[in-house]
Amino acid sequence: MNSDELKQRLGRRAVDDFVRGGMRVGLGTGSTAVWAVRCVGEKLRAGELEHLACVVTSSQTELECEQLGIPIYSLNHTHVGGKLDVTIDGADEIEPSGNLCKGGGGALALEKVVAYNSKRVVILAEERKYVARLGKSFPITVEVLRQARATVTRAVEAMGASASLRMAERKIGPTITDNGNILLDLTFEAAFDAGWLERELNAIPGVVENGLFTGGHYTVYLAKPDGSLRVLE
Ligand code: A5P
Repeated sequence: MNSDELKQRLGRRAVDDFVRGGMRVGLGTGSTAVWAVRCVGEKLRAGELEHLACVVTSSQTELECEQLGIPIYSLNHTHVGGKLDVTIDGADEIEPSGNLCKGGGGALALEKVVAYNSKRVVILAEERKYVARLGKSFPITVEVLRQARATVTRAVEAMGASASLRMAERKIGPTITDNGNILLDLTFEAAFDAGWLERELNAIPGVVENGLFTGGHYTVYLAKPDGSLRVLE
């Protein structure tokens, strides 16, 4: 199966398995999570999911929901109350401990708020993203206040990272996030403890959030190239 077919299969399976009427549902970001959003849209149109409250994690997902007619709630809405029953999202890398690296699409800050406040988080990925150790082939993304680019760069370099400012495509200058910030993509020569690094990066003044998701309990659906799924709890 090609990559799009695998992502479509993952999205449908996650929605079939975990989304029920009346739930408060977090909708993730990226080319994999979007298939779960589309499946929610189909089921809503078919009248299979009543009284669903969906919370989006990015402007990409918001646009998709608008096109599909999926009503969106704010995480602050009294009906949602900052708590979600399930969130479905993608990831850039997943290691055997269950730690994740996210942020390839730049939506890591809201993705993390939503995931950390969901009873269940379902992560969808092709099996090639299941790696021995985070950060070897994909950078750790950090969302940073624009005014703090130099100071945060200096601080992460002191921690052994090389930092690269993510540049926009089809726009001159850096990528600006949904929150109006910039992104630094970090690579580390040496191995690191992901939980420690997640906390240390967020302790740097000017860092809004980083793409390491550690210490959570995720249900991970991995799609193998033949279309079969592997489930990790
Ligand atoms: C968005 O910021 C990311 O966290 C995505 O969830 C992650 O990059 C996976 O995206 P794809 O499903 O497009 O690979």
